Amino acid sequence: MEIITYPNKLLKQISKPVDKFDKELHKLLDEMYEIMVKNNGVGLAAIQVGIPIRALLIDIGDEDGNQSKNTLLEVINPEFLEWNGTQKDTEGCLSVPDYYDEVERYANVKVRYFDRNAKEHIVDASGLLSVAFQHETDHLDGHLFIERLDYIKRKKFEKEWKKKLKQKK
Ligand code: CO
Repeated sequence: MEIITYPNKLLKQISKPVDKFDKELHKLLDEMYEIMVKNNGVGLAAIQVGIPIRALLIDIGDEDGNQSKNTLLEVINPEFLEWNGTQKDTEGCLSVPDYYDEVERYANVKVRYFDRNAKEHIVDASGLLSVAFQHETDHLDGHLFIERLDYIKRKKFEKEWKKKLKQKK
């Protein structure tokens, strides 16, 4: 299992709702967790490892930023029920490695989702958790945070990214 990076077209796919909360899903979530931790991520959507289903992980850690299974959220079929306010925060993405920029998001969101056992959860999120829910759910709809940059920043990003891809070859 590998993390797919921009501009791979797979990242544009719209992921399908999960209907089976079975062993296969659990195995995928476990594997996603390993790869997220290994890459120092705070979130990972299934499509980022090439699986187009509405499943994602968020682990923003505890107050000291320490991540563990206790702070991990396994989020299946998320749906926003409420959203309000705006906030600007620096974001990054494992599919756009080593690039960070400020993105405007809703400040507060209320999200309904299911865990790996199909148990329903409703959470009110603000701050980093709110950003993480919005960033990761964007992945399920085929969107990356760089699409939310303004025109000039996006142009600059594309130029730098092309240069970087060339250097890799
Ligand atoms: Co991302």
